[in-house]
Amino acid sequence: MGELQGRKFILGITGGVAAYKSAELLRLLVKAGAEVQVVLTEAGARFVTAVTYQALSGRPVWTDLWDPRADNNMAHIELGREADAILVAPATADFIARVANGLANDLLTTLCLARELPLLLAPAMNRQMWENPATRRNIDSVVADGVGILGPAAGDQACGEVGMGRMLEAEELYEALVTFVQPKPLAGRRVLMTAGPTFEAIDPVRGVTNLSSGKMGYALARALIHAGATVDLVSGPVALPVPAGVACIAVRSALEMRAAVMDHVDRAEVFIAVAAVADYRPRESQTHKLKKSGDALQLELVPNPDILAEVAARPQPPFCVGFAAESRDLDRYALHKLEAKRLQMVVGNLVQIGLGGDDNEVVIYDRAGRHPLARDDKHRVAAAIVAHLAAALAAR
Ligand code: C5P
Repeated sequence: MGELQGRKFILGITGGVAAYKSAELLRLLVKAGAEVQVVLTEAGARFVTAVTYQALSGRPVWTDLWDPRADNNMAHIELGREADAILVAPATADFIARVANGLANDLLTTLCLARELPLLLAPAMNRQMWENPATRRNIDSVVADGVGILGPAAGDQACGEVGMGRMLEAEELYEALVTFVQPKPLAGRRVLMTAGPTFEAIDPVRGVTNLSSGKMGYALARALIHAGATVDLVSGPVALPVPAGVACIAVRSALEMRAAVMDHVDRAEVFIAVAAVADYRPRESQTHKLKKSGDALQLELVPNPDILAEVAARPQPPFCVGFAAESRDLDRYALHKLEAKRLQMVVGNLVQIGLGGDDNEVVIYDRAGRHPLARDDKHRVAAAIVAHLAAALAAR
């Protein structure tokens, strides 16, 4: 099941060059299970054609206020009835001005005026238009009316200039919509977490590390943001984009990870240790590259600090969640960790399933027992872990 299964959106497209990005946004929404009804303005149809959107959404595209397909000829009322939100992307300066002034001179503006559902606008325009006092006034008044504004971003513009006014990318708008529709059981809660592997240098080009893609931790950070939490993520080296809204502190070694965690832990209500921290590091890291010789090489390793155990042993510890990736005897090791490190919750998985891939199958262990979750995509597993965490925090 996609993360937007059962959600319904109206996607409005007005006349800006950025209209091409809305096709990709539509594809992402449909892929995630959402039902999307596209409304194209007359100017929008100068940039993109209805055929593309009809094919991507699997539904006819609406353009005309007088479309006889709607019951009672009232497309502006009918379309908005069951949707979760209207997103207009791109929203031109002219369209925003019309919404700000309550105009209803085409289907999309009429739909916006007659709506009872949330309206989100993704502005897209040239820098001067965005900075013009008239646009500033219009943005202020739609915001005062409760309209959400997504972006714009700064960057290269179609007119050849560089500046503020670029529409957000399809992925960014997708994330904003997912965040918008999710319940917020963690609103106001601050979470500190670790993710990824650590890398313990032997010399400038070699090191000791653990296999960890960081995918589970990053999916969890994203799900925490969706649930309304504030997230500080201390991350070892991974090749993943930082989820929108997450404050990421990039580190390399376990000692750096520990220092960053200790810097942030005072403010955290919850600490989630997902990182695969290397248990040992070389006693010394060489400044210059070790040269090869025919002899055997001895590498002396010393233990790293256990970051999670140290946080959990503080006088007033945050709610501590550990992860246990084991190759066998998961129940035994995970329950042992819960007790030994004095944690509130442990999320266990067998490495044969979770390592590196997009799916995971986990069991949550807490004082109430063992709670297996169905095998699923890491993002949906993360959402289920967050739901469990939110319930546990609410019950405290
Ligand atoms: O002790 P073990 O590595 O089996 O426990 C795993 C859990 O402890 C994970 O949550 C991991 O992030 C955390 N951990 C840590 N610091 C270490 C080792 C593990 O925070 N040095």
